[in-house]
Amino acid sequence: MHTPNSPHTVGTSATLSATEITSARLRLRAARDVDRDGFIEIQTDPQVRLHLGGPRPRSVVEQYLDTLGVPRVTDKPGTFVIADRATDHLVGTLLLHRRPADLPGHVIDQGGELELTYVLRREAWGAGLAFEAATAALRAAASELPDQPVLIVTKTANTRSLALAARLGFRPVSTFEAYEAEQTLAMTGLHSFLAG
Ligand SMILES: CC(C)(COP(=O)(O)OP(=O)(O)OC[C@H]1O[C@@H](n2cnc3c(N)ncnc32)[C@H](O)[C@@H]1OP(=O)(O)O)[C@@H](O)C(=O)NCCC(=O)NCCS
Repeated sequence: MHTPNSPHTVGTSATLSATEITSARLRLRAARDVDRDGFIEIQTDPQVRLHLGGPRPRSVVEQYLDTLGVPRVTDKPGTFVIADRATDHLVGTLLLHRRPADLPGHVIDQGGELELTYVLRREAWGAGLAFEAATAALRAAASELPDQPVLIVTKTANTRSLALAARLGFRPVSTFEAYEAEQTLAMTGLHSFLAG
């Protein structure tokens, strides 16, 4: 179930217009001031940040959130807090953005493919929540956008992320070097998520 909030452009520049998406256990929604501690935790946790460049200093994260304002963290379309549907507590974040053409790792010449990224608090791993959030977001996107490639780009050493990508039906198509490590590019078609 999703709620479009504004007209969207059908084409390769668009991401999903929904601002709230619900699934059995989760609500994907905009950020709120109460999410501040959750954002700080996922940005500063060494285990969560292991394959994402390492933990950020708490003071840097706090300054970023205070300067920007927590509710603005999800301003960019396709950016969501993953919240527990019962408690509304932040369990992670999910992004469905366009992969910038100037980054390596593409399946079409001009780049700009849809790209999924996800981060859960450490305590939320191992319960199928990232799979549930990703499926709900991609199903919402599939219902409003034309069929097109969707990418997951993840460090090859990030076995949890690669396992999630495989469970979602993404298949590895190439590897490349970036950030001093091998990255795996995995892809599937958006309309593989259309509700049956
Ligand atoms: C990548 C990440 C989101 C994966 O989280 P995850 O919880 O392992 O992924 P899933 O939601 O698919 O859950 C699968 C696990 O839940 C278990 N599970 C329990 N209940 C389940 C259910 N109802 N449905 C599905 N799986 C369930 C599965 O058996 C599996 O367990 P296992 O890891 O012990 O094999 C998480 O490890 C993370 O946040 N990592 C740090 C951020 C990161 O590196 N992101 C990648 C950037 S692209």
